[in-house]
Amino acid sequence: MPITTCVFDAYGTLFDVAAAARQAAAEPEFPHLADNAATLANLWRQKQLQYTWLRAITGAHCGFWQVTQDGLDWALEACGLAGDPKLRQRLLDLYWELQAYPEVPAMLTALKDAGLNTAILSNGSPDMLEGAVHYAGIGALLDDVLSVESVGIFKPDHRVYDLVGQRFGCDKGQVLFVSSNGWDAAGAAGYGFATSWVNRAGEPVDRLPWVPDHILSDLTTIPDLAKP
Ligand code: LAC
Repeated sequence: MPITTCVFDAYGTLFDVAAAARQAAAEPEFPHLADNAATLANLWRQKQLQYTWLRAITGAHCGFWQVTQDGLDWALEACGLAGDPKLRQRLLDLYWELQAYPEVPAMLTALKDAGLNTAILSNGSPDMLEGAVHYAGIGALLDDVLSVESVGIFKPDHRVYDLVGQRFGCDKGQVLFVSSNGWDAAGAAGYGFATSWVNRAGEPVDRLPWVPDHILSDLTTIPDLAKP
């Protein structure tokens, strides 16, 4: 079935979530971050995601901004940085201005030129996603930005993936879903989407019942995979 619709995860896939800690570490107020910026970014991300899964399983949904703050607080304490409220605030502010990966604008332009639908499907709340899309300047290249907030549960619940067919009227097999999160790509593959896992860090494949169709090192070949 030809692909008509290309759908992207946001955080870590289009937007570089490690950029916040990297940028803060380069600023003169936070010299103590230089040694553990990568560890902090990694722990922040892991905890943020764990909290989404736990909240989804237990029915304790909250907005993605809450789990982003909770994950950061855990990571700051683990790194011995909990006593620095200015650093906490700076990192949170930077989360609204994450850099898009450099290949994103040209990749989305190629998809639009090929006549495909393009969208984000993210755990992010609508205001967070609006901020990120605006900062990256890619709003005109996206047909829609879909947030889990319209169903009130995080990925990989099927109700989140259902939003794509509801919005675009397409079959599951006409959707190419792209994520840098192995568990998200696996969940979307299990749901029935064609899937590409963007594995920038060269991580092992998740041991889950579903595997992505493509494993990529960045987003540049997405238009080749999606074109009829
Ligand atoms: C998102 C997270 C999972 O954007 O990266 O949905």
